[in-house]
Amino acid sequence: MSSVYRAIIQRRTIRRFKQKKIPRSLLKKLVNAGRLAPSAANLQPLEFLVIDKKELRERLFPYLNWAGYISPLGNPPVGKRPTAYILILINKKKENPLFTPYDVGASAENIILTAWELGIGTCWVKSLDREKISALINLPKNLILDSVLALGYRDEMPRLEVWRNSVKYWKDKAGCLHVPKRRLSDVLHINSLSSSIL
Ligand SMILES: Cc1cc2nc3c(=O)[nH]c(=O)nc-3n(C[C@H](O)[C@H](O)[C@H](O)COP(=O)(O)O)c2cc1C
Repeated sequence: MSSVYRAIIQRRTIRRFKQKKIPRSLLKKLVNAGRLAPSAANLQPLEFLVIDKKELRERLFPYLNWAGYISPLGNPPVGKRPTAYILILINKKKENPLFTPYDVGASAENIILTAWELGIGTCWVKSLDREKISALINLPKNLILDSVLALGYRDEMPRLEVWRNSVKYWKDKAGCLHVPKRRLSDVLHINSLSSSIL
C-alpha cells in the first residue's frame, strides 16, 4: 500500500496529544506541504501562522471548540492539549472568494496527511472565536482567519465504524472515540446512478 493511501486510510482526527514538542523543522515541513497544494487559478491566497510558544498556545486554546456532537467529552484535557497550531489565513488581496474554500481544503488536507505520516495527529478546527483569535494574533485587515489546525503527537486512536444510522461519532466507556463512515457502496456509482454496484 502506498504511504499516502495508508495515511488516508489510517488517519483519524486526534484531540488528545502527548506533550512531546514538535520540532520546528517538522512544523516548517507541514507548512511546506500546505503551500504546495493545488490552488484554483494558482492564486495561492493562503498564508500560515505557526504557534508553538506555550504562553500563546494557552491563550489560543479557550477560543477553540472541540467535537460538537459529544461536547465537552471531546475537549483535550489539561496535559493532553495541542503542542502546536497552524492557523490558515486568507490574504484578501490575492484571493477569489469563490475559489478560496477549495484552496483551504486542499492545503489543510496536505498538512494533515503529511503530519500523520510523521506520527503527528491533527484536529481541523473551524468552530472558533474568530474575533478573539484575530485580536490575539494582531491579524492585519488584509488577512482573514479561516481554520486552525491543532497538532501534537497523538495520545488516542479513534476507531473507524461502519455507518449505521447516524453520522454522530461517540465515545465508549473506556474513552475511545468511534467515528462512523458511510460505506463505499453508499457513495460509489459506476456508469449509472440508478444502481449500487457493490
Ligand atoms: C472543515 C472541517 C471543520 C472541522 N471543525 C472541527 C471543529 O471545529 N472542532 C472539532 O473538534 N473537529 C472539527 N473537525 C473534525 C471533524 O469533526 C472530523 O473530521 C469528523 O468527525 C470525522 O472524523 P475523522 O476526521 O476522524 O474522519 C472539522 C473537520 C473539517 C473537515
